[in-house]
Amino acid sequence: MSTEVYFNPWDEAFRANPYPYYKPLYGRPPHLLNMFYQMALVAGYDDAVTILHDHERFNSSQKTNPTFDEQERTLFAGAATVLFSDPPTQTRLRKLVSRAFTPKRVRDLEPRIREITHTLLDRAAGKNGLEIMGDLATPLPVMVIAEMLGVPAVQYEQFKHWSDRIVESDNTPPGMPLPDATKQAAKDLRSYFANEIERRRGDPGDDLVSALVAAHDETEALSADELLAFVILLLLAGNETTTNLIGNGMLALGRNPDQLELLRGNPLLMPRAVEEMLRYDGPVQATVRHNHVPVEVGGALIAPETMVFVILAGANRDPAHFSRPDEFDITREPNDHLAFGDGIHYCLGAALARLEGAIAFEIALERFPRLRLTPGEAPPKYKGSYFLRGLSELRLAVS
Ligand code: HEM
Repeated sequence: MSTEVYFNPWDEAFRANPYPYYKPLYGRPPHLLNMFYQMALVAGYDDAVTILHDHERFNSSQKTNPTFDEQERTLFAGAATVLFSDPPTQTRLRKLVSRAFTPKRVRDLEPRIREITHTLLDRAAGKNGLEIMGDLATPLPVMVIAEMLGVPAVQYEQFKHWSDRIVESDNTPPGMPLPDATKQAAKDLRSYFANEIERRRGDPGDDLVSALVAAHDETEALSADELLAFVILLLLAGNETTTNLIGNGMLALGRNPDQLELLRGNPLLMPRAVEEMLRYDGPVQATVRHNHVPVEVGGALIAPETMVFVILAGANRDPAHFSRPDEFDITREPNDHLAFGDGIHYCLGAALARLEGAIAFEIALERFPRLRLTPGEAPPKYKGSYFLRGLSELRLAVS
């Protein structure tokens, strides 16, 4: 592998396997470049942690990239969201829903997640093989988050369609307008949830949308625009990522049959296996921060108004932090990966995603004792987004 840095999220070959391209970034200061914008690439584990913890100088709001900015405006109509804001706004918004995502609240969802997983696999069982993305990985998380939000889970195909069109727009080249299909999906999704919010006003339930409506109506802790933006963020953040944990994790198990056998023989390894899936091929490749003052990180001086790419999946394979980083080892311990980020924006849904992942793998392996990659199958195809890495399809043999 060359020591030259090549970083091009618009290149399909790069997106299909970005990991070799991270190697030249290790063991040296963050790489500064100008590709449409002033950018810094951070794949070193320690530098990534430093930036994620320095939210005062490395902000999540105020985009320097007009394409990201247009995406956010299209989807959230300029309202602040927890993910793309900084304290005190981020602190206020996060507090509103953090109660719904505590480990205890999440554990209470377990029986229902098991039930949904069984129902989905019942439907798939009669077929000749599994297409794990369509049969399980896509519907499961969207059905779970839809139930938490209190919207009908049966509409998951509609949610998926909207969500796919929105995620695809990550791949819009700088300076180009967002595709019409993305704009339409954002419009339809917004109007769907605007109706749901109205419905809750007259008929509140024990769900997240009702809790957020109450926060808006009773405490003014949330503006009407923020309320709609929050619900949409939860739907998107709660499904695309977990779908990709299940898909990428299944592919890693399929490509490493020794690890698959080890897991089958030792179900107690499941929590560690899920952590290794998150480290080895995480659903979120990178996140972006913006600095408005010069900051020195790991020996590089990052100039103001730089788009700082914190490459989480790159940091998760930094050889200075993880031994044998390119090996998929479900017994790895410790495994302090950054797949859920770090610092104040640490993933709100981490406990839920871990639980859904563990249940999906446990039940799929139990019900299909011969589950494996389909021999001779073409290389898997990835969806269009670099940031949210996930397969469009993954066929598995079951007999
Ligand atoms: C395997 C699945 C998941 C992965 C890998 C993942 C990853 C991440 C990452 C890396 C961040 C931090 C982004 C940053 O610092 O800029 C994040 C934040 C967030 N995640 Fe997740 N996520 C997953 C599942 C979920 C689920 C299931 C939900 C909710 C139902 C969720 C809701 C959120 C929210 C609301 C934030 C913003 C938190 C904040 O900014 O304070 N995520 N996630």
